[in-house]
Amino acid sequence: MPPGTALYGRAVSTTPGPAPAPDLFTWEFASDPYPAYAWLREHAPVHRTTLPSGVEAWLVTRYADARQALADQRLSKNPAHHVEPGKTGIPGERSAGLMTHLLNIDPPDHTRLRRLVSKAFTPRRVAEFTPRVQELTDRLIDSFVERGGADLIHEFAFPLPIYAICDLLGVPEEDQDDFRDWAGMMIRHGGGPRGGVARSVKKMRGYLAELIHRKREEPGDDLISGLIKASDHGEHLTENEAAAMAFILLFAGFETTVNLIGNGVYQLLRHPGERARLQASLAAGETGLLETGVEELLRFDGPVEMATWRYATQALTIGGQEIPAGDPVLVVLAAADRDPERFDGPDVLDLARRDNQHLGYGHGIHYCLGAPLARLEGQTALATLLTRLPDLRLAADPAELRWRGGLIMRGLRTLPVEFSPSVPVLVTDGPSGM
Ligand code: HEM
Repeated sequence: MPPGTALYGRAVSTTPGPAPAPDLFTWEFASDPYPAYAWLREHAPVHRTTLPSGVEAWLVTRYADARQALADQRLSKNPAHHVEPGKTGIPGERSAGLMTHLLNIDPPDHTRLRRLVSKAFTPRRVAEFTPRVQELTDRLIDSFVERGGADLIHEFAFPLPIYAICDLLGVPEEDQDDFRDWAGMMIRHGGGPRGGVARSVKKMRGYLAELIHRKREEPGDDLISGLIKASDHGEHLTENEAAAMAFILLFAGFETTVNLIGNGVYQLLRHPGERARLQASLAAGETGLLETGVEELLRFDGPVEMATWRYATQALTIGGQEIPAGDPVLVVLAAADRDPERFDGPDVLDLARRDNQHLGYGHGIHYCLGAPLARLEGQTALATLLTRLPDLRLAADPAELRWRGGLIMRGLRTLPVEFSPSVPVLVTDGPSGM
């Protein structure tokens, strides 16, 4: 791809500043957006730009402004507040009747739904899921360990979260490969043709409606049954709310975790000193560095580049910049988490970093509901890979690797690796198709 080629067909100009403004949304930007974000933080910290879709939006790049914006109730999550409603959001969610989910609503509706889902999606449920995540992780590694090479995105990072969420929700094993296909369509075309994604969203919606109906008749010990049962002062989720909730858990918890694993492994392979330090600590049976390390990987190269859409319900000021009512605002978490005003040596990967209140999981009332599950999956995946494949290495020139071009998510398309082949560990009874 020649330098400066636009990712989505045309280069996007930026507000002129004192130094030449970087091109946003080109292929170079996708593979390493951090220099452009450093420029924005310094010269245009709250910056109006035209997105590749043609929508005009404000990018907020400094840590202090980002934190303030994420907690500002004048910035609504409801797309009806956009001056051009219908131009933003998840493709297909409107037509599939999935709009009433946590990331599209404000208090008091958000407070009610979040309270209800929190009763079912508890830290205890996640903790009890630990052995299952380990089993899924081992089973996936078993499927390629004898070959001495793999594409870690397709063979590991992609299937692990989809099977994990399906299991947690209570999607029967025989249906989980359908989910894998629908999710695959969403991740492949997330920033591209909307038709295929919209069709997959519709199919998922139809399936979830039917599953909720079934679980109502025959409840189990799964999250969907928990969502149906959950009540707060006599209030329950409606069937539509339960379907939208199951959908957003899948949607929010899937590609994010794929990219936590993908970006995390990639950065460890590019930082051999930090990787050796982590391997030594794992070999000594310690978990402290793994825990701080996963947080640091989230800060350094996290899966969510920009928080989801927000819309100004009234004229307001962020970082001294006036934002007119109706304008969309995108908080750039990836830029905020490298802000030198907040982090010492922000461009250094330090797995033991302690002062690390990163924004990778967001902030405020929309703070990631699935953070405990993401941490469990991220820590299990990285620890098991580094332990079972101790000489894991990249099998491609980093400059050749391609990053996905979506606005919100940051992740690799493929991650080819090599390692010394070994024998599978014995794990029995996993989901079909693995
Ligand atoms: C490493 C993995 C993950 C990352 C980096 C991540 C990041 C985020 C971020 C940044 C937000 C806030 C978005 C905003 O304010 O615009 C968020 C919200 C959310 N996340 Fe995650 N997430 C991850 C995994 C998960 C998982 C595994 C689940 C569930 C299975 C999940 C479910 C949710 C939900 C439901 C919300 C909306 C919460 C609300 O609006 O109240 N996430 N996540």
